[in-house]
Amino acid sequence: MEGRELHEAIMELARRRGFFWPSFEIYGGLRGFYTYGNLGTKLKRNIEKAWRRFFVDPHGFLELDTPVLNPLRVFKASGHLEHFKDVMVECLKCHRVFRADHLIEEEAGLEYVEAMGEEAIRRLLREKRIRCPECGGDLGEPQEFLTMFQTQIGPMSGEPGFARPEAAQGMFLNFKLGFHHARERLPFALAQIGKVMRNEISPRRGLLRLREFTIMELELFFDPQEGQCPWFKEVSDESVKLITEEMEAEGFKEPLEVTLGEAVERGYIKTEWQAYFMGVSKRFITYLGVPPERQRFRAHLPEERSHYSTQTYDHEVYLESWGWIEIAGHAYRTDYDLKAHQKASGVDLTVRRADGSRFLPHVVEPSFGLDRLVYVALEVAYRKRDGRTVLALPRWIAPIQVAVMPLVTRDGLPEKAREIWSQLKDAGLTVEYEEKGSIGKRYARQDEIGTPIAVTVDYQTLEDDTVTLRDRDSWRQVRQEASRLPELLRSYINGERGFDELGRPL
Ligand code: ATP
Ligand code: GLY
Repeated sequence: MEGRELHEAIMELARRRGFFWPSFEIYGGLRGFYTYGNLGTKLKRNIEKAWRRFFVDPHGFLELDTPVLNPLRVFKASGHLEHFKDVMVECLKCHRVFRADHLIEEEAGLEYVEAMGEEAIRRLLREKRIRCPECGGDLGEPQEFLTMFQTQIGPMSGEPGFARPEAAQGMFLNFKLGFHHARERLPFALAQIGKVMRNEISPRRGLLRLREFTIMELELFFDPQEGQCPWFKEVSDESVKLITEEMEAEGFKEPLEVTLGEAVERGYIKTEWQAYFMGVSKRFITYLGVPPERQRFRAHLPEERSHYSTQTYDHEVYLESWGWIEIAGHAYRTDYDLKAHQKASGVDLTVRRADGSRFLPHVVEPSFGLDRLVYVALEVAYRKRDGRTVLALPRWIAPIQVAVMPLVTRDGLPEKAREIWSQLKDAGLTVEYEEKGSIGKRYARQDEIGTPIAVTVDYQTLEDDTVTLRDRDSWRQVRQEASRLPELLRSYINGERGFDELGRPL
């Protein structure tokens, strides 16, 4: 399955099994908002956990949780009020509104039109004679649209408030306190997982373009005189596929493959600090089940780059449904943000070097959209086997880790199965007890929601306390003593042992 059909199959599965579905359905729905069900919430939480494991924990970085709503002053200073805009066009006949660059991409078969800049967008709309894809009507003049949601803070006149389109500003506003809590030493990072909102002109492709989504962001603060990142050697041999700014400008589509060490040496990536996180990013995305050959990094051209960035690489993943999509942005933000907030607030945000000189730290930022990762993980894991769906999620992110089921619902089997379920739960595993339907149907359901292991209690269990363990991907089975399950399954789910090490083959 590929293309639209694959996307539809995943959206159908997601709804039927309770991963996620469009919000506000009983009121007719509203584009760009999705609701997560039980399995989706768990999958999301496991991806968050994985992100912390790769990005936050290894260096003891600090996490924050800052407000979604911010006063006007923040986004005026940060430059978002002026720059956080997309170009839209309206159909003069049916009055539908489209994001101009995406419309050109779809109607004229071009790529990365945003990178060409606003003038080119206007010109292409004319030259390619683009019309409304819905009704064929003429399009009006393209206009800029501020994609931040605005509200009023407080009941009377109040101060205008804006929902944050990125979590990053929360980290910059709290830089001083963060620095203090990091023992006043550089480098250190502030990280945050939280909701952001963007008033996207035309939300589409399910979880890939939402108006409210979760971002996982990290701001690494370092001394710009310190060119060497102490952790870079951990990833410098990692090879990556890059489309550099020069390649992008000259229209080369095939990425070059280099190690991160070479990429820094040859100046493709401006700083080791940024290259370090690109390496971690590749490992993190691989851990979520995306093979390295389906990953690449693409540099932004200056027109496409955010106002705060001097170099941005998008981490892209290849989807059978939509082709290459961005899942993370790696931006070198320099001291742009701290400088802007220092100027607007009048508060000194500089720090002191050992020699007494004062400076504003520079920042590199990896920024992941969590909802896109949920969709990517599902699509990459989606398989068909003998006409049945199997979600081959890496076992460390599967929403349910173990299903425990009695073969039949009599003769004490359910009681024994519940006992095992309870022990596994107490061992910290996410376990589901299931007794409804035939055993074949129950296996099929667990395969479809990606549960790596099914434990079956049968009559033999009552005699010798052994159970059957079934592997989701190979459908093979082994036999093991129930008392050993907590220890064995924990290490299996963590990836420390393989299925064959779980018991005696059947
Ligand atoms: P795009 O070019 O696709 O609009 P962007 O360049 O605006 O994305 P960033 O500003 O770099 O995206 O945001 C960081 C990350 O947040 C992206 O890599 C993506 O994973 C995610 N993201 C951005 N916009 C959305 C959205 N509307 N819905 C879901 N996730 C999003
Ligand atoms: N913080 C990166 C972005 O949201 O654009």
